[in-house]
This record gives sequence, C-alpha cells and structure tokens, in this order.
Amino acid sequence: MARHLITSALPYINGIKHLGNMVGSMLPADVYARYLRQRGHDVLYICATDEHGTPAELAAKERGLPVDEFCAQAHDAQKAVYDGFELAFDYFGRSSSPENREITQHFARRLNENGFIEERAIRQVYSPADGRFLPDRYVEGTCPHCGYDKARGDQCENCTRVLDPTDLINPRSAISGSTDLEVRETKHLFLLQSKLQHEVEEWVARHEDEWPQLASSIARKWLNEGLHDRAITRDLDWGVPVPADTWPELAAEGKVFYVWFDAPIEYIGATKEWADQDPQDRDWKSWWYEADTGENPVRYTQFMAKDNVPFHTVMFPATELGVREPWKKVDYVKAFNWLTYYGGKFSTSQRRGVFTDQALDILPADYWRYFLIANAPESDDSSFTWEHFTATVNKDLADTLGNFVNRVLSFSRKRFGDEVPAGAAAGESETRLGEEIAGLLAEYETQMDALQYRKAAAALRALWSAGNSYLEEKAPWLEIKTNPEGAALTLRTAMNLIHLYSVVSQPFIPSSAQAMRSAFALADDTATWVTADGARSLDSVPAGTAFTVPPVLFAKITDEDLEAYKERFGGAPE
Ligand code: 2FM
Ligand code: ZN
Repeated sequence: MARHLITSALPYINGIKHLGNMVGSMLPADVYARYLRQRGHDVLYICATDEHGTPAELAAKERGLPVDEFCAQAHDAQKAVYDGFELAFDYFGRSSSPENREITQHFARRLNENGFIEERAIRQVYSPADGRFLPDRYVEGTCPHCGYDKARGDQCENCTRVLDPTDLINPRSAISGSTDLEVRETKHLFLLQSKLQHEVEEWVARHEDEWPQLASSIARKWLNEGLHDRAITRDLDWGVPVPADTWPELAAEGKVFYVWFDAPIEYIGATKEWADQDPQDRDWKSWWYEADTGENPVRYTQFMAKDNVPFHTVMFPATELGVREPWKKVDYVKAFNWLTYYGGKFSTSQRRGVFTDQALDILPADYWRYFLIANAPESDDSSFTWEHFTATVNKDLADTLGNFVNRVLSFSRKRFGDEVPAGAAAGESETRLGEEIAGLLAEYETQMDALQYRKAAAALRALWSAGNSYLEEKAPWLEIKTNPEGAALTLRTAMNLIHLYSVVSQPFIPSSAQAMRSAFALADDTATWVTADGARSLDSVPAGTAFTVPPVLFAKITDEDLEAYKERFGGAPE
C-alpha cells in the first residue's frame, strides 16, 4: 500500500467554473484518487478555493458584499457544485484559512532568513481613475512576445509567458479601461528566484523525464528564459498579511502577499485544515514534511491546466527549495491542454460555454464525467460540441453499458426469477471471455497508472463492449429455447460482468457504478478492485444471489434535447 498525495489546481473563488476548468484539474484528480483508493492505497486528495487577490475583491464589490463574506458564500457555492460532480476530496479548503496564513508567513520568514527575500522600492502602475495601484493582472495590453492584444500584466494567456505589467505595449486598466496610468514608487518584498535558478534546474532535471511532455517543455522554456526575482507582495486589503515581526514597516502599510505566493502553499495549508478537524487521527506533516524519508514515502501528483505549469514546476519548487526545510515537492505533474467550445475559448468572464452548475441542471454528473475524461485534452486541445457529447452518451453509456445491464437483468428475471441462475458449468466461450476481460483489465490498469485518461477510457469501453459481444455470440434469448441450462450460464456470466463493470467503472461514473452494484444483494458491496484471477473466473456473484433490475441507467439524449441544448448555449459559430 503506497501513500498518494493528490492535489488539483485551486479554483479561483470568483465564480462558478466551466467544463474546461473541471476537465483540466479536479475531475481527473478525482478519477485518479478514486482508482487508487479502490486499489487499496492510502490516498489524500486535497483541493481548496483560491481566495485572495484582486478578482475576489472586485467580485465582492460587484455584489456589494464585504470580501470575506463574499468568499465564504462563493466557497460554499463552488463546493455544492463539486459535491454534485461527486468529487470525493478528502478535504476542500480555503486559502484564506488561518492555517494557510500561518504556513505562508512561516515560508516567508524562512526565505528571508536564508537570504532569498529582499525589500526593494519599485515603481508600480497607479491608476488615478481607479484611485489605486493596479495589480499585475489588472493591467492589460499587447504581449511583447506574441502580439496578443489582451495579455495580462502577470502572464500572456496566449503564449503562456510570464510578464511584468511594464512589459506590455499600450497598457490600460482592466478595471476602468483608463489609459491614464502613472507609475509611483512603493516598497515590496522580492523573492530572489535568480539565486535559486541553479537548484531548480537540477531539481527539474531529476524529474522531467517522468513528466508528460507538456509539463516538462513548459518548465524548460521557463528555465531557459531565466528565473527573475519577483515581487511577492501587493497593495491590497485582502490577502495573507506580511508578518509584522519581520517587516514592521510593510506590515504597517498593510501589504499582503501576492496571491500566487500563498496559493500553492494552500496545498499544505488545506492539509493542515483537514488535520485540524481531527487532530487525534490525522497527521498533516507526515504528508508534507519529511514525506520522502521513512519506509513509506509519499508520491505526490498534481493536476492542472497548462497555464498553471510554470508556477507548479518552477516557481513553487523554488519557494520550497529556498525554505531549506524538507517540504514535499511534486513527483508527477499531469498537465492538460484546453477544452474548447466549438473550437473557441470557454470563458468565465464572457460566460461562453457550459458552466458546471448548468451542466448538472441538465444531466447527472456521470454523463459529464465520462464524456469529459474520455475526451480529456491530453495531447492537444479538444473541442466540446453538443453533437459529440450526444453521440458519446448515446453510444457508450446508453447503448453499450446501460442497455447491457438492463437487458441482462430484465431477461434473467423474466425467465429465471429474482436470483442469479446457476446453469451449466463454464465452457469454452466463458474461458475465452475471461481471458479477454483479464487482458483488457490489465490494459485499463496500465493506462490509469500512467494517467492516460483517453486510453484508459478506451480500455473501459472495450471492457463494456466485450460483454455485448459475448451476449451476441451466446444469444441467450435463442439459447433458452433449446438449452435453458446454457442460457442460465450465459446470464450468470453476464451478471458477473455487470458486477465487474460496477467496480472498474466507479472512478469514471461513481453513481451509476453504485447503482449497478446495488442490484446484487451481496454481503460485500464495496468496490474493492478486481484481481486478474477474478477477471478470468468471473464468479464474484454466485448463483442464488438475489438481484433487482435498476431503473434505466442512462437515458438517451434525443434530437429534440440536442436542439434545445444548442439553442440555449449556442452551437457551432455561424
Ligand atoms: O489558475 C487558477 O485557477 C489558479 N487559481 C490556480 C492556483 S493553483 C495553486 F497553486 F494554488
Ligand atoms: Zn504572448
């Protein structure tokens, strides 16, 4: 039993996320966490809302709420949607927690003691029209590298390069649009990342071979450009305050840490929040501090979309290295490309595409979970279209899986009653089927272990299809006329497949998997993983087990539904 720490990029607090955010971070993390738990590993899956920074302040202002109140409400609203998606976090925390404040301040003090923080006077963009200093991301303009005209002062979304607001060509305030911007002098803390370049390079070199190419190439690109010293404080009302014991002057001025400084530390902070709920039984430090020493080291996997990769592969590791304490660093970075909406951008601010709350209004979580994971933007961007979604749901979920389950259980009940029939002893077809299932299961496990979601989904689909082929081959509805014992064997075998599906499909479609498993009155209804022998022998549901026929697992999406969805959300651009 291994120990697996899993985190997914922390969703910003300002607003409900769209399907693209879901498939690029939390959902794949949940699928992996569920899979590992089923296989008996010790898993800790941590996420949280990323609550600091200007977006939160502005969203609160828009709602006429104090920012802390806004964040509390918005956190609960996001959590409700994630519950709806059945994301089984071990803990879903808040970066504004006292735990994160304590650890962030500790990190800053340590970095300072180790000579990696310096106080510098800087000239910062001030907007008289807005009456405030403009944080980096609220200065917009043209990217000096790629010419994208909506680049933000912290990062260009188009070419992913990290920027400084003063790099932008034709800068303007993203709050008011004002181009009347001045530069004023103010003091800030700088993280001397340039001093850590060498160490980070060595660390990346030791890990990148194992990472997916998307993650290692972005890390490399960033390192090749050279690590620059970066301001890690801001003039905002909302954030982790600079500790007064170390920087009395800055603290008195009300400076807070930059959101990207405290956000990754919240992975640790949220783990402490989790432990603080049950301090007797939960040891947060064993996951993070000296987690690589001892008999059972922690394996840490992070999930994120590609724009987050520089912060996780370079910047946060630099921070962790500079602290000079044995904090756990990431082992594997699973990065995703973009999910597009008909080839265009999903956009939270422009509300283009399907949002996670709307998705659940329309159809149960399992439909979305399966579609999104089976089409995860792994090697390239992938496009969401209602046509593709409809075809996938109808074919894979309704026809291949759902129909199999219903057909087998209804037919058996009609002909043999409410218990799994015994029938003849397994024959050649069953032996062949068992071999095929064991082979496909091994392939599925290989792909899940490698975090290859599309390939894992293909293997899962192949497992479902194998059941259909077996049923077509044996045709129990004909067999029953001449050989009832043979038909009973076929149905018992098919019911064992249903049980196997209920276990191995659980990471993708937890509710439906549970419904499938609950059809059988088994003493052990847990989803403990199937062994290769179990897959071969297909005998976990013995003859005589009582069963019920569950309601239809997946309703087909009709042409009318499809039209209505396109009408409501917009289809292909004209
Ligand atoms: O890009 C985002 O949505 C950020 N809120 C991700 C933060 S990840 C972590 F470092 F906290
Ligand atoms: Zn650019």
